[in-house]
Amino acid sequence: MNTTNITYPAEKRSLYRLLRTQLQGLTDGVPYMLANLANASALLYQALTDINWAGFYLMQGGKLVLGPFQGKPACVEIQVGSGVCGTAVERDEIMLVENVHEFPGHIACDSASNSEIVIPIHRDAEIIGVLDIDSPVLARFDEEDRRGLSEFVRALECAIGRCKPVMINIHEG
Ligand code: SME
Repeated sequence: MNTTNITYPAEKRSLYRLLRTQLQGLTDGVPYMLANLANASALLYQALTDINWAGFYLMQGGKLVLGPFQGKPACVEIQVGSGVCGTAVERDEIMLVENVHEFPGHIACDSASNSEIVIPIHRDAEIIGVLDIDSPVLARFDEEDRRGLSEFVRALECAIGRCKPVMINIHEG
């Protein structure tokens, strides 16, 4: 699927609808999880404005380990309960952080990051990783992003495993 030379809509509902369609086009019939996550991070990175990192951490041996991403090199391991990503896993909640500098224990991989959203990824009842997106803009992510990205992650869960409805809990701060 050719996703280059696309002008993405500014209106967020339309943007995320288009991204789900593109994700489906990229992952349909592709049985490789890492390939699908790599393309998903590239898709988000090219489509979303004002972001400096988009990618995945995957559960391995009881902790989060860096997965496919776009952006600057990042820390490799994050313990459950640490930083925004580890907190999202511990609570099994979407973390929408308007100002990362006010988040206790935030892990700064790129000093340009000012806000962040982290969404747990499930297979069956188990968390298998997180989608993490960072922005240099304070309060970059709002309710529309939370909704759009959680639906994007659900579509991704279907692409990399079995689909299962997921309870969405939100932490804001
Ligand atoms: N800020 C994250 C660490 C990962 S980087 O943003 C890529 C955290 O606090 O968990």
